[in-house]
Amino acid sequence: MRAVGILGSPRPEGNCATLLREVMKGAVEAGAETAFYDLGDMEVRFCRGCDSCALDGVCVIDDDMQTLYQELSHADLVVLASPVYFSGLSAQMKVMVDRCQCLWHRYIPTHGRAALIMVGGMKEPQFRNGLSVARSLFATVGLEPRDGLLVGGMNLPGEVATRPEVLRAARSLGESLISED
Ligand SMILES: Cc1cc2nc3c(=O)[nH]c(=O)nc-3n(C[C@H](O)[C@H](O)[C@H](O)COP(=O)(O)O)c2cc1C
Repeated sequence: MRAVGILGSPRPEGNCATLLREVMKGAVEAGAETAFYDLGDMEVRFCRGCDSCALDGVCVIDDDMQTLYQELSHADLVVLASPVYFSGLSAQMKVMVDRCQCLWHRYIPTHGRAALIMVGGMKEPQFRNGLSVARSLFATVGLEPRDGLLVGGMNLPGEVATRPEVLRAARSLGESLISED
């Protein structure tokens, strides 16, 4: 089983990063091999809307998305992690999602499952918009959506480390996403 984590926060030691690492540790405990991608360290350019991919499902932009296309098309588990920014996903994550338009033009059989982690600063952040975009992506790349982790009330980077119950929930999420039948 291959589990792929994709971080969409610009804070490498932030709350999303901390939770995504815990999810990946849980996945390893359940026997998965893992890969961790930080979009902040990658070159992922904007979708140009050129529609070349409508012909053959291939994106003409030669950047780090080419690696992520392989991962998204073959992983048994994909976990996205994004802060809530203006009631939606971070720009980093949304640029990655838009670049998956080429996968919409391919037939990718259902091959795995996926979940979204979101962290917001407000006590009750608006998660609905990010969830909706993520579900649309998962459907496009043949991943079955699973419940992820939605956490509010966290503003400082790494603040989530003061909430052991949330860290435990992240670890057991990774474990159960891999070990479910
Ligand atoms: C540009 C920006 C927009 C934000 N918008 C929201 C928002 O709409 N709702 C919310 O609850 N928190 C919002 N926040 C707070 C972040 O979601 C919060 O600090 C979160 O813990 C960041 O996660 P990270 O540590 O993984 O980067 C915003 C923060 C920034 C920098």
